[in-house]
Amino acid sequence: MIFPEEKIRSHAKKLLSGSERGAHSFSHVERVYDIAKNLGERMGANMRILGAAALLHDIGRPKEEETGKSHAILSGEMSKEFLHNIGYDEEEIVSVVEAIRSHRFSENIEPTSLEGEILSDADKLDAMGAIGIFRAIARATLRNLGIPGFLKHAEEKLLKLVDCMYTEEGEKIAHERHELLQAFVEKLKAEVRNDLAH
Ligand code: ADP
Ligand code: NI
Repeated sequence: MIFPEEKIRSHAKKLLSGSERGAHSFSHVERVYDIAKNLGERMGANMRILGAAALLHDIGRPKEEETGKSHAILSGEMSKEFLHNIGYDEEEIVSVVEAIRSHRFSENIEPTSLEGEILSDADKLDAMGAIGIFRAIARATLRNLGIPGFLKHAEEKLLKLVDCMYTEEGEKIAHERHELLQAFVEKLKAEVRNDLAH
């Protein structure tokens, strides 16, 4: 069975374009999809499941803002009917929903499939490295939290992501991205202290 990539991408894009802002833009979804595809192809994942899960994993974001309910649940719920309409069978739909449910760092739910593991890794990789730094600064700025807000988030979350990888391929990329993140955080702290010897 082929993977109807364009149909799913345009559906996700339409749902997210209404709230195109800061860290949660559709460009994040595109990047997560690219990483997931790359890892998935190398690891022999089912791309109908992984591709759909990656493109749809954040479609519940706008509704999360309204209802407070987790987008990891909402995105899955919102995907069911759409996937059915484009020809996914029940078993596939369950797998996509399950992969989406377990992708989120803050909820600590362990993935139960290779596709879930890869989606979780890909989503976290996009919060690391240069892009991760950019996104976190964008978010901290949006919320008026400044440098202290960025540093707090980096310590509480971003610097821990390297230990949250499920796949070996993901871990390799994570190590590189972690190094950059760590170096940036150290340098930023030193400059904030006005420590000119650094
Ligand atoms: P999830 O819980 O789905 O993993 P988040 O909404 O926590 O995702 O994070 C999405 C993006 O926003 C990430 O790039 C993350 O680093 C950034 N972010 C989240 N919370 C903060 C914060 N308090 N300060 C700075 N960046 C943040
Ligand atoms: Ni995401």
